[in-house]
Amino acid sequence: MDTQTTDLAALESDFSARIAAAADEAAVEALRVEALGKQGAVSGLMKTLGSMSPDQRQVMGPKLNGLKDRLGEALTVRKAQLAEAALDARLMAETMDVSLPPRPGRAGSIHPISMVMEELSAIFGQMGFALEEGPDIETDFNNFTALNFPPEHPARDMHDTFFFHPNAKGDRKVLRTHTSPVQVRTMLKQKPPIRMICMGRTYRCDSDATHTPMFHQIEGLVIDETTTMADLKGVLMAFIRAYFEVDDVEVRFRPHHFPFTEPSAEMDVRCDRSVPGQLKIGAGNDWLEILGCGMVHPNVIRACGLDPDKHQGYAFGMGVDRLAMLKYGIPDLRDMFAADTRWLKHYGFSPFLSPGLAAGVG
Ligand code: DAH
Repeated sequence: MDTQTTDLAALESDFSARIAAAADEAAVEALRVEALGKQGAVSGLMKTLGSMSPDQRQVMGPKLNGLKDRLGEALTVRKAQLAEAALDARLMAETMDVSLPPRPGRAGSIHPISMVMEELSAIFGQMGFALEEGPDIETDFNNFTALNFPPEHPARDMHDTFFFHPNAKGDRKVLRTHTSPVQVRTMLKQKPPIRMICMGRTYRCDSDATHTPMFHQIEGLVIDETTTMADLKGVLMAFIRAYFEVDDVEVRFRPHHFPFTEPSAEMDVRCDRSVPGQLKIGAGNDWLEILGCGMVHPNVIRACGLDPDKHQGYAFGMGVDRLAMLKYGIPDLRDMFAADTRWLKHYGFSPFLSPGLAAGVG
């Protein structure tokens, strides 16, 4: 072995030992600079390649490159080991006793949206509706096409949709603009009779005091062979009575248009706005628009693999955030998502409350 090779081997074993023994990430970094940095030992040797004879360079080039690669690898491995050990130590040290009482003034509370969702599932659960789920990122088919939005139709823009970049096949996913695609998912996976609700996040590119880019909806769907608009009306009135805790409600159905229902309607609830800043549901001279609904369009039933000559039913959809604002007197929607604990303290609910049926918050 020539002396240069012996020197290289010594250099490598010296650095390898020191890297393996490095106590923290700073020590690893210092060794990287000492070996591989601009002024480092290995870099210095690499610079001598230029003044070597071609024969010598052919021998030394690969050796030095190999040394550089091995030391680089050892540094990376040691750095990862240290990071993992540091994380382990932190996880061991950070324990939390969840049974401790909260620190004064720091008690958690239930967000009004969560509370309303609990109330809604209690109310509709009692009426025999099963809870379904769907993803926030949807296919264009489920969000639009199967719901009878014609391709390239301006109705798709009506929803101020957040589109993803198309994939290689040209398909583009969307952030769901409503919870209606869960109707499609449910009909595709389950045979009628279907009686379901679903709740969750929805997205539209819109923002002011009554719109946020992310908001929440609840959707309902009933499909069987006999359900009619009268059944829809009965269920929605029972819901309004339970949710707003009023014995008597007057509602009206106004004709409307949705691509996925025929006939379609918007439902208004009688209310009183005569006292400024106050809204009373159930009585008064005014109307409050509360939801969209209708009989499921035959094209939707067909797109979901069912026979519209045999199966029929209704659907409805409404904004959960709006329901929360109405019931709990929250004036600005944007505050709901500002993560301000003072706001939560004002509007939030004790974690010990459980949502009841008739009284909402029991
Ligand atoms: N998806 C509608 C929207 O976001 C709401 C809606 C209206 C849902 C009518 C329905 C329905 O199921 O029947 O604006």
